[in-house]
Amino acid sequence: TGTVDDALESLRAGEPVLVHDAADREGETDLIYHADSVTPEAVSRMRNDAGGLVCVALGHETADAFDLPFYTDAIDHPAAGDHELGYDERSSFSLTVNHRDTFTGITDTDRSLTIRSLGEAAASPTATDFAETFRVPGHVHLLKAAPDLLEQRAGHTELGVALADEADLSPAVVVCEMLDDETGEARTPADARAYAQRHGFTYLEGRDVLDRLA
Ligand code: 5RP
Ligand code: CA
Ligand code: ZN
Ligand code: ZN
Repeated sequence: TGTVDDALESLRAGEPVLVHDAADREGETDLIYHADSVTPEAVSRMRNDAGGLVCVALGHETADAFDLPFYTDAIDHPAAGDHELGYDERSSFSLTVNHRDTFTGITDTDRSLTIRSLGEAAASPTATDFAETFRVPGHVHLLKAAPDLLEQRAGHTELGVALADEADLSPAVVVCEMLDDETGEARTPADARAYAQRHGFTYLEGRDVLDRLA
């Protein structure tokens, strides 16, 4: 249900797209919006309809411009020494942040402010004093894309940033896994596709994105 072009159009229009990575990877479908278009209603949809972790994926250079490291490189703790993921070489997690104008940071309005501001910051990294705008730790997980994007890694982090790049939007997207309320497992691709259809959203396979953009 949908082409890469449909997804680009949706992201530009502020609509979410659904992307299933691959059966031999996480096997997850993330609900993805461009960061610029995230409203409190979008955060509400992510926590109620998706239910996973709300994360903002940034392009590698953008994250570097803000001095954002990979979490595993930043923290000196034995548990961070060996990444050992079942589905990829390494995690894309960076730090967690809140916009400085948030209170607790977790409400729909607080998280949407943090996420939209990350979109704004990504549009003009040199004009942004990151530490003056955001505080660490916070309630929005940052993800840092691989330096060579889809050539190196095909996670939702890279798939989302690649779609934003191709749509001529800043390299900042919010992603959240679609979980099944009955089983507690990831929603099946069939289920996620049906959800997309019901709401008129674009659903893509990671393969579609790789074939077109990698
Ligand atoms: C963070 C995750 C998600 O799967 C998210 O999609 C980012 O990870 P990846 O790039 O590995 O797919 O685990 O909630
Ligand atoms: Ca739910
Ligand atoms: Zn993922
Ligand atoms: Zn995941």
